[in-house]
Amino acid sequence: MTTTAVVRFGLIGAGRIARNQIAPAIRAAKRATLHAAASRELSRAESVRPTRAYDSYAALLRDVDVDAVYIATHNGLHKELSIAALRAGKHVLCEKPLAMNARDCEEMLRVAESTGKLLAEAFMYRHHPQIPRAQELVRSGAIGALMAVEASFRFPMFNADDVRMNAEWGGGSLLDVGCYCVSASRLFLGDSPVGMKAMATFHPVRKVDTSLQGVLDYGSGRHAIISCGFDSGAHEKVVLSGTAGTIELNHPFKSWTGQPQLAVRTKDREEIIEFEPVNTFQLEVDDLATAILDGSEPRVGAGDALLNMRILDRLAEAARN
Ligand SMILES: NC(=O)c1ccc[n+]([C@@H]2O[C@H](COP(=O)([O-])OP(=O)(O)OC[C@H]3O[C@@H](n4cnc5c(N)ncnc54)[C@H](OP(=O)(O)O)[C@@H]3O)[C@@H](O)[C@H]2O)c1
Repeated sequence: MTTTAVVRFGLIGAGRIARNQIAPAIRAAKRATLHAAASRELSRAESVRPTRAYDSYAALLRDVDVDAVYIATHNGLHKELSIAALRAGKHVLCEKPLAMNARDCEEMLRVAESTGKLLAEAFMYRHHPQIPRAQELVRSGAIGALMAVEASFRFPMFNADDVRMNAEWGGGSLLDVGCYCVSASRLFLGDSPVGMKAMATFHPVRKVDTSLQGVLDYGSGRHAIISCGFDSGAHEKVVLSGTAGTIELNHPFKSWTGQPQLAVRTKDREEIIEFEPVNTFQLEVDDLATAILDGSEPRVGAGDALLNMRILDRLAEAARN
């Protein structure tokens, strides 16, 4: 338990997401401050305007005034840095995907349990109010019995040297954007698909999947259909199909890129539900800060991340076969 009224965050890595979204979100958060930042380049750490800047991740972890770290590096460092941070006595909010596979995730979870520190996955989309609203609508039977979730997230990757094109660092579209589709499917259909099939296209040199289509069989005719890729125009959507109607989310993941709407359509009803803009990055930071300060559970804890990772592993395996 921290003794400060706010949680002093240390930001590890100063790449795109850290500079454009996370540093401003931590500064805007109600219960957090951007106490420190670390980058392999000191000037990059300084550029996000922390109170203290470091030119190494290890130096930031030695800062006793850092209560929690936000890990914003490429996927290949998530496990190592999360474990090092937990052992250094810090709570951890780590970019998605929390790990490169379920086995690594289990190890991270064990360290979190043994150190008594919180480990959470930075799945910002889960903090948008449209998500609980959609869940509530499905639970209330607004579209009858839910039969299918279609979740897609695709964008064009132009840079073959991008960290997301590096197989050793957990690159590929499944781990980068497919993780959102799986997460959304689990929210509505659960964690236990009875079977799955997948087809993927792999980059001839980089060996990462540049697109993957998967079907998760939830039994009794219920399915999740996921589509992710680096090979097409930017596109995101979730469609929930029930026996009596549909709910369509037009900006389920990157809510800030447009006006998020839930379109509810049944035989007797067509309703468009709109939402005020919110900063989901700020909400995820405040969610972890609240968990630390008030002893609540983070919205996307490591246990949830592990359930996601297990399905991602199975899909990757299905695609390889
Ligand atoms: N939540 C979201 O909306 C969202 C969006 C995009 C990405 N992400 C996630 O955020 C993470 C970073 O993605 P990004 O798009 O910000 O990538 P990026 O701009 O390429 O940044 C790469 C990050 O990795 C660090 N790094 C450490 N060793 C490195 C090495 N040898 N080569 C290159 N970079 C190295 C860099 O830190 P230094 O400052 O030390 O160089 C930097 O923080 C990924 O896990 C990704 O899945 C999340």
